[in-house]
Amino acid sequence: MRKKIVAGNWKMNNNLSETIALIEEIKQIIQPDNKVEVIIAPPFTNLNKAVELLKNFPVTVAAQNMHYADKGAYTGEISADMLLSIGVQTVILGHSERRIYYNETDQSLKEKALQAYKKNMTNIFCVGEKLSDRQAEKHFEIVENQLKNALFQLPVQAYKKIVIAYEPVWAIGTGETASPEQAQEMHAHIRQILAKKYGQDLARNVRILYGGSVKPANAGEIFAQPDVDGGLIGGASLNANDFNAIIEAAKS
Ligand code: 13P
Repeated sequence: MRKKIVAGNWKMNNNLSETIALIEEIKQIIQPDNKVEVIIAPPFTNLNKAVELLKNFPVTVAAQNMHYADKGAYTGEISADMLLSIGVQTVILGHSERRIYYNETDQSLKEKALQAYKKNMTNIFCVGEKLSDRQAEKHFEIVENQLKNALFQLPVQAYKKIVIAYEPVWAIGTGETASPEQAQEMHAHIRQILAKKYGQDLARNVRILYGGSVKPANAGEIFAQPDVDGGLIGGASLNANDFNAIIEAAKS
């Protein structure tokens, strides 16, 4: 039985005081239970504070990106060790906004995924096709290549710490969601790809999240799909009530 995950990707939102206020609200509202794992990913500058505020509360703090090297002359970058040193053990890698705006490639993501594995970090690895890919009916192939190119270097045991997030680019921040059937179809496809490479057992156990305009109103039907194990939430994770409603939807 795969435990559901609801992860909030705050993206470039919330300064320090807004971060404190939102986390305090989350702590007031969210009812932790063992059916769902909750994660938030604030911007780098607020990770330290977030970890401190959530010390005795079952919400995990994640980073939105990290570098593949241990350290060195990479101005503006953040390493795995820096994250680990403040208690952050989870990282989102390969988000489409990073692929599109910062030219992250399968090759650099391959190195980042390897680094996350070496450092024993949880890697929430994002895949997803653009609208033009879907229109050209290439979505299955695109996602398959994203997975193969960045993750298939890794051994079976790495997948204990890998969560896959399927985020169709056309559904991110657009208000347009993949239908529950479209999400299910892609999640099942991802499981099949994993099964072919690593075996059924592994494929059955990897958690696959859906992301893209998940809201309280649509979370329930998306999460009810058999291969959907929760969500990676952008906009709606910035509002404690909406985020909580999505967490509640994952419990039922
Ligand atoms: P929205 O929920 O705002 O569409 O963002 C989804 C996302 O990109 C999460 O990583």
